[in-house]
This record gives sequence, C-alpha cells and structure tokens, in this order.
Amino acid sequence: MAFTSLLALVALAAITRAAPTTICPDGTRVSNHVCCDFIPLAQALQSTLYMGDCGEDAHETIRLTFHDAIAISQSQGPSAGGGADGSMLIFPTVEPFFHANAGIDDSVNNLIPFLDKFPTITAGDLIQFAGTVALSNCPGAPQLEFLAGRPNATAPAVDGLIPEPQDNVTHILERFADAGGFTPFEVVSLLASHTVARADKVDLTIDAAPFDSTPFTFDTQIFLEVLLKGVGFPGTDNNTGEVESPLPLGNNKQGGNDTGEMRLQSDFALARDDRTACFWQGFVNEQEYMMSSFKAAMSKLAILGHNRNDLIDCSEVVPTPKPPVGKPASFPATTGPQDLQLTCKSERFPSLTIDHGAQETLIPHCSNGGQDCPTVQFTGPAGEDDS
Ligand code: HEM
Ligand SMILES: *[C@@H]1O[C@H](CO)[C@@H](O)[C@H](O)[C@H]1NC(C)=O
Ligand SMILES: *[C@@H]1O[C@H](CO)[C@@H](O)[C@H](O)[C@H]1NC(C)=O
Ligand SMILES: *[C@@H]1O[C@H](CO)[C@@H](O)[C@H](O)[C@H]1NC(C)=O
Ligand SMILES: *[C@@H]1O[C@H](CO)[C@@H](O)[C@H](O)[C@H]1NC(C)=O
Repeated sequence: MAFTSLLALVALAAITRAAPTTICPDGTRVSNHVCCDFIPLAQALQSTLYMGDCGEDAHETIRLTFHDAIAISQSQGPSAGGGADGSMLIFPTVEPFFHANAGIDDSVNNLIPFLDKFPTITAGDLIQFAGTVALSNCPGAPQLEFLAGRPNATAPAVDGLIPEPQDNVTHILERFADAGGFTPFEVVSLLASHTVARADKVDLTIDAAPFDSTPFTFDTQIFLEVLLKGVGFPGTDNNTGEVESPLPLGNNKQGGNDTGEMRLQSDFALARDDRTACFWQGFVNEQEYMMSSFKAAMSKLAILGHNRNDLIDCSEVVPTPKPPVGKPASFPATTGPQDLQLTCKSERFPSLTIDHGAQETLIPHCSNGGQDCPTVQFTGPAGEDDS
C-alpha cells in the first residue's frame, strides 16, 4: 500500500472521530453506533413505565440513579461498592433491603425486565439512562449528559453508604466527599431532585407526601419552601428524619389522596447550615442556574466508579425535556416573606409574589390535578427492610 493512501486513511480516521457518522435505524445521527440501542430503550421506558409523565414511576427512577451511584467509598476501597454499576439490579435481593433504600424495590423491579429486553445494555447504563428519560418528563429539567459503557456490577455494595434524612450536615457532606469528592455546592445542586420527589417510607401512614407544592415540575419551589417556617406534620407527627413543614394540610383524613407537604430533616438542615445555606438560597427563583448546576453535578454522580475517558458520549439520544412552565417561584398561599428562615446574610433574597387564597394550598396527588393516577408496578425479586 502506498504511503500516501495510508496517510489518507489516518486522515479519514481523524474525521470519523470528530464528526457524528453513524445513522441509527430511526434516522438519528450519533457519534458511536452503541448509542443507537438506547433509542428503542427510551421509547420502551416511556410507553411501559413513565407514559410521558413526571409521576411516581419517573420520581422513583431518579431516586434510583442516586442510590445506585452513591454506594462507593474512597476510604473503604473498591470492595465497598462500585458506584454507578447497576448493582441494585444485578443483586436485587441485597441492597434494596438496606434501611436507607426503603421503597427503592419498586424502581428496581420495574427496570429489571428491561435488562432482558435490551441484552446489549448493562445494568449501570440502564439505571442512569432511564433516569435521564424519567427526568425529561419533568418540565424545567435539564437534558442530562449520558455516557455509555459501564460494565455490569460484579458485587453488591455494603450497607451504610446511602445518606439518610436524620443524618447531620457534617455526616452528609463527608459521605458525598468520600463517595466522589463532591463539594457542598454540588451536594446542594443535587438536591434540586427533591423538587420532583415524594416520600412513602418516612411516615408509613401516608403515601407520596411531596417535598414541595409542585412535585411534577422541575422548578425552584423546593429551595423556597424548605426555607419557610414549619407549622406542622402531614400524617403522624415527628417521624425519624422528618421536621415540621409549612404546608402540612391534606385531605387524606377525608378520604382523599392529598397528604400535605413533608419536610426532611436533612433538607431543613442543609438549607440553614453555614456551609450550605448560601448555595441553597442562591437557587431560589434561579431556574436556569439550578438546571445547569444540577446537570453538572449529575454528570459526576452518574459515572461514579468509572473513568470518563472509558465511556462513550451518547448524550444525543437523551430525550429533550419538557420546557420550564415559566412561572416564577412564589410563596404558597398562607405563607409569605415573614416566614423565611434565612441564615445566609451575604445574599439578598429575591422579591417574590404570594399565591392568592385564604386557605393553605392543597398539593394535588396527580400531575393532572386529580387524585387517582395508578402507577405501573412489575413484580420482581427486590423487596425492602420493613423494620
Ligand atoms: C442528603 C442526601 C439525601 C437524602 C438524605 C435523601 C433522602 C430522601 C428520602 C428520605 C426520600 C423519601 C423516600 C421515601 O420515603 O419514599 C427521598 C426521596 C427522593 N430522593 Fe432523596 N435524598 C438525598 C439526596 C437525593 C439525591 C442526590 C437525589 C437525586 C439526584 C435524590 C432523589 C430523590 C427522589 C427523586 C425522591 C423521590 C422518590 C419518589 O417520589 O418516589 N435524593 N430522598
Ligand atoms: C448484565 O447483567 C444482566 C443481568 O444479569 C444480563 O442480562 C446482561 O446480559 C449483562 N450484560 C452484559 C453486557 O454483560
Ligand atoms: C454527626 O453525625 C456523626 C455520625 O453519626 C456523629 O459522629 C457526630 O457526632 C454528629 N455531629 C453532630 C454535630 O451532631
Ligand atoms: C420532634 O422530636 C424531636 C426529638 O424527639 C424533638 O426534639 C422535637 O421537639 C419534636 N418536634 C415536635 C414539633 O414535636
Ligand atoms: C386515591 O387513589 C386510589 C388509587 O389510585 C384510587 O382508587 C382512589 O379513587 C383515589 N381517591 C380519590 C378520592 O380519588
């Protein structure tokens, strides 16, 4: 072969690496053929699990991305856990039974069937990719980065690596630093996730108790509402890891499914601690800033246990999220600036409107405003610690 044609080949290879060249069966252009497999996976997840909704099943998967990934420890070494390695799905009878993982079994059992349906996709990739799809259903969420190529887990993680709501701020910050060198700012950024979150296991007498008044939109209300003075508990009082919330009224005592807002002690403490309060407050009514900060921190979380350079960037197959609803942050009816508990003195608090109404806002159980929205639940091997 002539030396010149060899040079030409080298040049061609360089171009191939720089530009997207593979066209997937549906016409999407991707930089690497392995990305194509995730396109039918996204469709299957939407049509069998999420139904395009930022509802319970989407929320559960977003939580799972965290609980799979954070189970890794620099101080304890590789045998403690492999990070974002899919160990939750590969060993479904181990980690889901840890106390801190209560309720994670629903999302584990719901994703396991996709391992068989998509044999080229590993468990770690499945969890993190499903998280990006779930999040895309939440108006205002960022389009997350997605890198493919996490090998399947070879062992489950040890117990004790998942933060719990009763943990103090020092303990939480140390755990995140030990897991992956997260800064206090990145920890607060990740807690934007609690804008699309509800608790089933903190108070066992109520299901789906939301952490903010808009649990179906990825907005900044969580950062505002956690700063308000607490006035009472939804459901039963004062469970472990719970503190009073500003909107505890529900209609569940009258047979409805609206529980009232729940506040985690950890969110309360992070919003007021010297090390994190200014970061927390800084996200109030800063939609774009919250989105980009969450995205950056999630990029780090999603590849814990792996080298970025060993993975293939498949971000182009992550669905485009629904746009933000465009409503500025506002004080829920019956609350106002007088209820703010601000410990960050160096930043000016934004001026926000107050929602009208003489009664405390009831937070709807379903994204369509209704109270009856069945979720999808496959049976499977995962269960939970019911102590
Ligand atoms: C300090 C760290 C954290 C603590 C202590 C914590 C604690 C909790 C607790 C207790 C629940 C309620 C579970 C239940 O009772 O059903 C919850 C829900 C949730 N968490 Fe966190 N969390 C933390 C960080 C994160 C992070 C980093 C993410 C994601 C990036 C996340 C995503 C979620 C989601 C989406 C839910 C809602 C699940 C659902 O609605 O079914 N959390 N969290
Ligand atoms: C990963 O593990 C799952 C579940 O055991 C299996 O179905 C899948 O084929 C494995 N994938 C790879 C690439 O080894
Ligand atoms: C925080 O929690 C850790 C671990 O449980 C404990 O050792 C420490 O004493 C606690 N610190 C404070 C200030 O309560
Ligand atoms: C909740 O329980 C804690 C610890 O037992 C106690 O210090 C606190 O005063 C209780 N709060 C309320 C509002 O009852
Ligand atoms: C509450 O949810 C359940 C389960 O989805 C449903 O059967 C029931 O009708 C709902 N209650 C109301 C008042 O809509």
